[in-house]
Amino acid sequence: MISKEMEKAINEQIRAELYSSYLYLSMAAHFEADNLRGFAHWMRCQAEEERGHAMKFFDYLVDRGGRVELMAIDAPRTSWSSPEEIFQEVLEHERKVTSLINGLYEKALAEKDYPSQIMLQWFISEQVEEEASAEEILHKLRVLSGSPQGMLILDRELAQR
Ligand code: FEO
Repeated sequence: MISKEMEKAINEQIRAELYSSYLYLSMAAHFEADNLRGFAHWMRCQAEEERGHAMKFFDYLVDRGGRVELMAIDAPRTSWSSPEEIFQEVLEHERKVTSLINGLYEKALAEKDYPSQIMLQWFISEQVEEEASAEEILHKLRVLSGSPQGMLILDRELAQR
């Protein structure tokens, strides 16, 4: 049986993952409005992935005999000044999520909660990928620095995700 403290922390993480999903969906809506369909597709996939993360925590809590309690999700921002600003925000957001996951892992270590440690190792590796992919796209956007031709090529590339 999972501890009450860990149950609460995982419920908060479910909210954080659902907020991530909501934020990326809002970014998808922004790209759709700008006719950058490839960027929008990438963000839609990202939003789905975040929902998957929330469900991983949801299912884990159920398996450990915990009680899932969904909380209110804040409204995300709805507009940005450039794709570069968006991916800068994605990177900062993912770094924040990484620190939340690390915090959960530290709690699992302190509680000697071995199953939670194993479950969280997946998320620790996932965060390395999440930060790397945001960084890669941000780097490309900086190299392109607004070149319309380059943006179309990148849009096509992101549509392949
Ligand atoms: Fe669920 Fe992008 O971390």
